[in-house]
Amino acid sequence: MNTPLLKRLNHVAIAVPDAKKAAALYAQRFCVTPSAPEVQPEHGVTTIFVTLSNVLIEFLEPLGDSSPIINFLARHPEGGIHHLCFEVENVDDAISHLTIQGVRVLGGGEAKIGAHGKPVVFLHPKDCFGTLMELEGM
Ligand code: CO
Repeated sequence: MNTPLLKRLNHVAIAVPDAKKAAALYAQRFCVTPSAPEVQPEHGVTTIFVTLSNVLIEFLEPLGDSSPIINFLARHPEGGIHHLCFEVENVDDAISHLTIQGVRVLGGGEAKIGAHGKPVVFLHPKDCFGTLMELEGM
């Protein structure tokens, strides 16, 4: 038996046209407390997190004209699930393993520093059953 590469689900990311509005509606409807918005110019998004006991919900709003979520929102104007983020022990080891497995690693196969200050990488949705997957190092 191999050690599982995927550890815990870290967050479910929902792309929305307006993160503040989405977070306010979540707070009102589901009695949760969203974080303050964080502008992330290097990722082309503004994020707001809702922390639950076992997982986070990440609202993503496009930031700038070349935001990576603009096309997604054009297809899903009211918003939709954009990606799932799983924790892995070591992102670079995961990249090596997945590359051998024929999984396309986006962003030139290099990890970037993500919203939580940890290395992250995205995997091609066509190699993950139509789901954009983010891997975050621990
Ligand atoms: Co994410």
